[in-house]
Amino acid sequence: MNLLTAQNLAHTFEYELFKDVDIELNSGESIAIIGMSGSGKSTLLHLLSTLLTPCEGKILLFSEDVSYMSKKRLSSIKRHDLGLIFQSHYLFKGFSAYENLEVSELLSGQKIEDSLLEALHIKEPMHQKVTELSGGQQQRVSIARVLTKKPRIIFADEPTGNLDKKTADEVMNLFFDYCKKNNAGMILVTHDNDLAQKCDKVFHLEDKKLQRIK
Ligand SMILES: Nc1ncnc2c1ncn2[C@@H]1O[C@H](COP(=O)(O)OP(=O)(O)OP(=O)(O)O)[C@@H](O)[C@H]1O
Ligand SMILES: [Mg+2]
Repeated sequence: MNLLTAQNLAHTFEYELFKDVDIELNSGESIAIIGMSGSGKSTLLHLLSTLLTPCEGKILLFSEDVSYMSKKRLSSIKRHDLGLIFQSHYLFKGFSAYENLEVSELLSGQKIEDSLLEALHIKEPMHQKVTELSGGQQQRVSIARVLTKKPRIIFADEPTGNLDKKTADEVMNLFFDYCKKNNAGMILVTHDNDLAQKCDKVFHLEDKKLQRIK
């Protein structure tokens, strides 16, 4: 089943970042996007996850054109179906890690799973304030928060950037397992070529073009 299709996307800030970008994500599939710093990978992820409107082109989520969706429909999709893990964590700083997950539980109507906290090694610090956690722990809390809502598409921008190799591998395996088990899709931005190669498809953003290399 098709989860996301983007056609002819183009985006410009001060200068043109990319154009003619096409991408398609299906159920159970993972896609990696690699490319040099500043090439526009995060911007592309923001477009695909509807945080930003493209200058040109069309995005379909679950076969519906985003630009024709009502605000209500789009916010329901964002709340229930899209999971965003970005370079900065956007956790609620005054809250504990657990309270951050409770927000996700409340908004999505899904339950926090103990097994998820165990897999991410964050059971212990769950009741500490976010500001008292290490960068890597915060990153794992934000991953738990996103997976708690059981999204159909995960958008992840360097999700393991703050983690050591072993923990990063564990976390990525969790994502791949999640996608297979739940028939979800993932679009992953990474600088790690080995990690990218573990995805079903790999794209390279270079010279304003998105080229498929796997
Ligand atoms: N909101 C914005 N307003 C203006 N320019 C922006 C904005 N967001 C990004 N840019 C510019 O667009 C370019 C691409 O940024 P982007 O964050 O997409 O790159 P990236 O490929 O994700 O880089 P990195 O690998 O370092 O994360 C940069 O030159 C950046 O300064
Ligand atoms: Mg980026």
